[in-house]
Amino acid sequence: MLTLDLSNISPFLPPGQTLSDFQPVLEAAQTALVTKNGAGNNFLGWRDLLTTPNVSLLDEVAAVAAEIRERADVLLCVGIGGSYLGAKAVIDALSPYFKRSGPEILFAGHHMSGAYLRELLQSLEGKSVYVNVISKSGTTLEPALAFRFLLDWMDERFADANERIIATTDPASGALNQLRNSRGFRKFVIPPDVGGRFSVLTPVGLLPIAAAGIDVHALFEGARTECERLSTSENNPALQYAAVRFWLHEAGYKTDVLSVFEPKLYPIGAWWQQLYGESEGKEGKGLFPVAMQFSTDLHSLGQYMQDGQRVVAETFLMVHDDQGDISAPLLAGDLDKLNYLVGKPYTEINRKAYEGTRQAHTEGGVPNMTLWMDAITPQTLGELIYFFEHGVAIGGYLLGINPFDQPGVEAYKKEMFRLLGKP
Ligand code: PA5
Repeated sequence: MLTLDLSNISPFLPPGQTLSDFQPVLEAAQTALVTKNGAGNNFLGWRDLLTTPNVSLLDEVAAVAAEIRERADVLLCVGIGGSYLGAKAVIDALSPYFKRSGPEILFAGHHMSGAYLRELLQSLEGKSVYVNVISKSGTTLEPALAFRFLLDWMDERFADANERIIATTDPASGALNQLRNSRGFRKFVIPPDVGGRFSVLTPVGLLPIAAAGIDVHALFEGARTECERLSTSENNPALQYAAVRFWLHEAGYKTDVLSVFEPKLYPIGAWWQQLYGESEGKEGKGLFPVAMQFSTDLHSLGQYMQDGQRVVAETFLMVHDDQGDISAPLLAGDLDKLNYLVGKPYTEINRKAYEGTRQAHTEGGVPNMTLWMDAITPQTLGELIYFFEHGVAIGGYLLGINPFDQPGVEAYKKEMFRLLGKP
């Protein structure tokens, strides 16, 4: 079960104030979410899919994934933003650091690099490839353009290309649907009431995750149990997380860092950045979300965290059972002066790095809290995904904005399309 340690926050609260002072506004935000009375209440499908689960959909996803695992060397996922970050985060978190068995899961259409696409296509030569093109709108330039190349490439190499391409998109609208209808690709649907950044537990994330050999039923069950746990406002850590972040925002903090000490959790940070950045960053409000990987980034951004402008807050994302049980060996003569670590497991050394950082950041004026996971499993990742989704919905309501739209992302598209001469 996820737990939230708030012991380092109290020293930063104004004298006489406690987090329980937020209880009335938190209750109101929780009620708005659960009773669907808040802003953007037509985009709450990410909760509905957990409160009324569609088990046959999970089975269908698992069956197509089993086919991919049997027939493909590579599954190429084509999508951007919410159409790839969640899948990448879960796959990276649950895969070994080196050499995962089964098909390689690669990504395309998540930027505009022609060099990347050319080299990717070269690297796929001679391999059995499946493509999952994922776009809710079906009109996003990055994946649509990359898919043009891939369609040609697949047609030239595989007589059964149509069997090997799976589209994940809106039930009816969008250019991808037209293409899919004319070619007869298999299709999974993104529910219209689930926004891209909330879609990891729909086929958007589930198909690539299952193709990577991950138990999507367990992932889903983790999210479902967390959704149930957070459905009341009592002892609700997602409400406390949202309250702290809101207080920090009101107190003038600008940046919110999610720090991980296990590198395979860093892509979860990238997913969290999108979830929080797109949900809260509007109407001149919101904390700027930044993911950091420690201790790596303590040797770069750590200087700013400790000593730069005092506008940075932090949440450590930690794991009780991190599988780091290899112990420091003895060096004859102690020439590197590290023999004081002999016999200590990496888990303990990494934990001391966390404790030391937490202490130093507290003393340096960085308010911080710690979110603890028991281990990195499909179940706990499901819990984590729902925790952050619930937290950002409440956070958006506390800020008085609609957490489920993203009007700001249209601005760059407008300018880019003008420069490209789009009719
Ligand atoms: O969260 C969002 O809605 C966005 O980040 C989208 O996921 C992203 O822009 C991709 O959109 P689409 O899936 O429509 O191609």
